[in-house]
Amino acid sequence: MLNIAVFVSGGGTNLQALIDAQDRGEIKNGKITFVLASNENAYALERAKKAGIETAVVNRKQYDSKEAYDRAILDVLEGRDIGLIVLAGFLSILGEELISQYRNRIINIHPSLIPLFCGDGFYGKRVHTAVLESGVKVTGATAHFVNEITDGGAIILQKAVDVEQNDNEDILQYRVMRQAEWEILPKAVSLFCEGRIKINGNKTEII
Ligand code: GAR
Repeated sequence: MLNIAVFVSGGGTNLQALIDAQDRGEIKNGKITFVLASNENAYALERAKKAGIETAVVNRKQYDSKEAYDRAILDVLEGRDIGLIVLAGFLSILGEELISQYRNRIINIHPSLIPLFCGDGFYGKRVHTAVLESGVKVTGATAHFVNEITDGGAIILQKAVDVEQNDNEDILQYRVMRQAEWEILPKAVSLFCEGRIKINGNKTEII
């Protein structure tokens, strides 16, 4: 059984989707044992506590560099035997040390079809604003491994979602979450814990 740490910054609906999937027995060979938040106001912390999961806050604002923040996170993870880190709406960029210590063991959920609408500056609702401004008719979500390039790691699962005529950012964000994120993130996590994701360079194969 793999211990899973989920990193959060906000509402935590993706964390909730993971907890619900776990309760239904859909996270095979994995267990969420720890939730780390980048700020103390993240509602995700309430969701974790309700589910009886241990939490910690490592506040990004208290560290003046990405490297110092990384060190603090690594210290908190120490001794917890974490086999997988899931970034579920975690809006701080991780540093190289953490990424290399957990190489191919960090999964992120991004609210667009990578390689579109991703990279530095594309997070949360901003992604959906850019999607609406572009006029594309289809968007979606991507579960992928994390490497040193923002949103640049190997793609695990994607799901497309229609953009509709009268959408605004809120409506589109909710549709992308409900139809794509909350479905593919728990699936990708389970596939990982079951050892069913083979990585070849920047591509994955589900076995
Ligand atoms: C989600 O839409 C997630 O995909 C996005 O932030 C939201 C967090 O919602 N993440 C990113 O934009 C990462 N680049 P949640 O806290 O309710 O899960």
